[in-house]
Amino acid sequence: MRKPFMAGNWKMNTDSHSSVALARAVVAGSTDVAGDRVDVAVIAPFVYLRAVAQAVSSSAVAVGAQDVYFEQKGAFTGEISPAMLKDVGCTYVLCGHSERRHVIGESDDLVGKKVTAAIHGGLLPILCVGELLEERDAGKTENVVERHLRTGLAGLDGEKMSAVTVAYEPVWAIGTGRTATPQQAQEVHQFIRGLLAKIYGKDLADEIRILYGGSVKPDNAKELMAQADVDGLLVGGASLKADDFVKIIRAGV
Ligand code: PGA
Repeated sequence: MRKPFMAGNWKMNTDSHSSVALARAVVAGSTDVAGDRVDVAVIAPFVYLRAVAQAVSSSAVAVGAQDVYFEQKGAFTGEISPAMLKDVGCTYVLCGHSERRHVIGESDDLVGKKVTAAIHGGLLPILCVGELLEERDAGKTENVVERHLRTGLAGLDGEKMSAVTVAYEPVWAIGTGRTATPQQAQEVHQFIRGLLAKIYGKDLADEIRILYGGSVKPDNAKELMAQADVDGLLVGGASLKADDFVKIIRAGV
């Protein structure tokens, strides 16, 4: 019932040539499955979004941005509005990626404003949640994930919530080569779905896709996807190699 969703987060990588080449290779490797059997998105740096959107325009591969600002326009030097992202061909936008929370210093409230603004602007937000290693070790995983969810979704009614994808990304698993075990991922995904059911009711909670992210590779994608509440994967490093990302896409089929 939930179509698998594979998203490649390129982070601050690629250039004007390699971003287009990578997008084309993802399209070429996924045409027989993308859209019908699995949703696919490439999440490119702002400055390459337009070129990447053109490169995938005749395919079912969608484009996403890595961040957005919550205001519509005005004196916000350096920021990018939802309308601007729509204008260059974006469908999705990441909100609250852990690197923005922990490296750039975004607050929970700011992330919530971004999610709301993205939906109002006609984008589909991917709300990222997840605990630090010390939070996991202190037994606080569920508290942190619940706080990220409640503040990230603050004020959204059920209709708006249906535009949201949630991505669980334990910070200790991102870029470290240390993937959460499929069981660890499933435990938190189940907790997230339960919480969504409490807030929005079971029917809607059953429709929301919850992605796992953190050191996803071709050789662990299938077992992660085999978990009942893992509906897709948010892939960093491995999405920069078209062959690897295509293998991961196919693990969802
Ligand atoms: P990674 O990144 O796959 O390189 O661990 C995942 C992410 O940050 O989205």
